[in-house]
Amino acid sequence: MTANPDVRNRAMTAALRAAGVLTDARVEAAMHAVPRHLFAPDTGWLAPDNGAGPGRAINRHTDPDGWWDAVYSDGSIITQREDGAAPADAPTGTPTSSLSGPGAVAGFLQLLDVRARDRVLEIGTGTGWTAALLTRLGADVTTIEVDPNVADQATANLKAADVAVHLVIGDGARGRPDGGPYDRVHATCAVTAVPYPWVEQTRPGGVIVAPWQPMPGHGWKLRLTVSGPRAVGRFHGAAGYMLLRAHRTVARWNPHHADDAGTARTRLDPRTIHQAGAGFMLAIAARCPRLGMMPMHNDDGSFSLLLFEPGDADGSWATCDWEPGHTDYQVTQYGARRLWDETAAAFAWWVDQGAPGPDRYGLTVTEHGEHLWLDHPATTISPAPP
Ligand SMILES: C[S@@+](CC[C@H](N)C(=O)[O-])C[C@H]1O[C@@H](n2cnc3c(N)ncnc32)[C@H](O)[C@@H]1O
Repeated sequence: MTANPDVRNRAMTAALRAAGVLTDARVEAAMHAVPRHLFAPDTGWLAPDNGAGPGRAINRHTDPDGWWDAVYSDGSIITQREDGAAPADAPTGTPTSSLSGPGAVAGFLQLLDVRARDRVLEIGTGTGWTAALLTRLGADVTTIEVDPNVADQATANLKAADVAVHLVIGDGARGRPDGGPYDRVHATCAVTAVPYPWVEQTRPGGVIVAPWQPMPGHGWKLRLTVSGPRAVGRFHGAAGYMLLRAHRTVARWNPHHADDAGTARTRLDPRTIHQAGAGFMLAIAARCPRLGMMPMHNDDGSFSLLLFEPGDADGSWATCDWEPGHTDYQVTQYGARRLWDETAAAFAWWVDQGAPGPDRYGLTVTEHGEHLWLDHPATTISPAPP
């Protein structure tokens, strides 16, 4: 029997509160006032957050209980794959739009810290749920969605929920040039670098909150405060989101020209690199821009760390192969960049800094680009020389 939606909604927020994820009573009240099921598709794919179990298809008509369970669980619901070219409720196909998971949404809204009457620009309308929550928090919301079909569904969802926002179809990377200044800018799609128009369109002292994902598979919640022509801020935990369209990168492992690759031996265990954690991955982002990393657990018990240049199928690549019982390991690398050497040098740098965790890093965005720093904005981390 399907429980009352309000009971399910309150059970969900109570669980998020107990887990320490939902900490702001105003965000909790907004979640109660704008029930998530009004924004959920009849069919889609539940992707539980934080690795909590496998995904599954949901269908409101054939399995209503499973649908309600999914809608009031802490998982995102994929509403579109391959920009609409593949069914959303299939297990494969790159997700291109979703109803974000409640825990992730709460985390970002708490960082955003919206005040009544704030002018808020959201990038990535999706289903419209986040825009509706922002409205409930008292904001005057403009939301931009790049996909017209997704925008149409969001318009219908928002109407059914009786929520009024300004919904614009367009490329949110440009912000809304004639709409600023905004008090808050919130991207609900990830960026590999923060688009400068967002900084220009935010009021001094205003806040930008976005999932920042400089390399495939590694993303962080970023909160920046705008100060004149720049924005400065820190990271607040992990975040895995689908990328802003123009920032999509193909993370393909392509060990081309293998016969011409150089080989060497190393005593640095590639498992140590793989397990070094989020603080080390930020060191990689700072010291070795455009470096992707994938672990491969082989059937024979060996382990390979695959390194590549994301978005460049013909770019440099490297592997380091750990084999049980060996005291040193095979390194193979090809291309203009020696990606294993870069990774090993970044690891040494990170250890020399005291193995900082992600909370010690920050980011500054200017019209010339962005750079990471350690502990203090003046302590810029420069990319390692080639
Ligand atoms: C994770 S979903 C957003 C979830 C949404 N906030 C919600 O609560 O349902 C990300 C959305 O960003 C949109 N998007 C991607 N690139 C965009 C861009 N350049 N401008 C605007 N929207 C974009 C996608 O089409 C997708 O709908």
